[in-house]
Amino acid sequence: MQPMFLEGAQKKEYVREKFSKVTRRYDLVNTLGSFSLDHWWRYHAVKELSRQPGPILDLCAGTFTLSKEIVRQRPREVWAVDICWEMLAYGRHRLASHPASTFIRPVVGDGERLPFKEASFYGVAVAFGVRNLARLEQGLAEMHRVLKPGGKAVILEFSRPTLPLFASVYRLYLHYFMPFLGGVLTKDREAYEYLARSIEAFPAPEELAALMAQVGFGEVTYRPLHFKIVTIYTGIKP
Ligand SMILES: C[S@@+](CC[C@H](N)C(=O)[O-])C[C@H]1O[C@@H](n2cnc3c(N)ncnc32)[C@H](O)[C@@H]1O
Repeated sequence: MQPMFLEGAQKKEYVREKFSKVTRRYDLVNTLGSFSLDHWWRYHAVKELSRQPGPILDLCAGTFTLSKEIVRQRPREVWAVDICWEMLAYGRHRLASHPASTFIRPVVGDGERLPFKEASFYGVAVAFGVRNLARLEQGLAEMHRVLKPGGKAVILEFSRPTLPLFASVYRLYLHYFMPFLGGVLTKDREAYEYLARSIEAFPAPEELAALMAQVGFGEVTYRPLHFKIVTIYTGIKP
């Protein structure tokens, strides 16, 4: 079946398996494919948490790229949750002698059913993760549940450029160049075809913002960057 039509447990297993296969080259493809803009995007997302003390939750943490940026900007405890053991294990291997390692606590877990009590965190951050959740609304509700009152959620996610010429070039890039690059580097072209389809199918920024409000977030904002290639969303738990 086409992966985009998978739902629930099937989508979750498909996504988990895909990330387990591209683990070692995941960060390299990101950096090459985005001309290093991914680091800049994470920097701006993490800036949104500058006032939040630890502990912070990094959801869909992968190889800890966002966790390290959270610690770099302000050293504090970061719980890094991911459903894919291989991503965390590889990230941990690379983290071994990194100064941030003493602040980062990896946890294998499901973002739709977080293994934390209510009101555990001052901040929750997700970079390029919510698009992969099998049940987006459930994941947002879990983010809300584990935040302390006054805590802040920050989501960095791909969106879709709308400027006519740029949007056409970007779509070609996403549907042809990224699967080519990802295929060469990871030997799993399908993982990057999935990336393109998942970006196309993801809710528009105003829809995601409305979903955040629906699960209980207040003061919801969203800010597109670089011709809307990505958008940063924020929300406060009242
Ligand atoms: C695109 S990667 C993002 C990694 C990292 N946040 C970054 O900025 O590069 C998405 C991650 O989400 C994880 N993921 C997908 N579904 C998940 C779920 N239900 N719960 C927790 N993690 C999940 C995947 O295993 C993968 O590591």
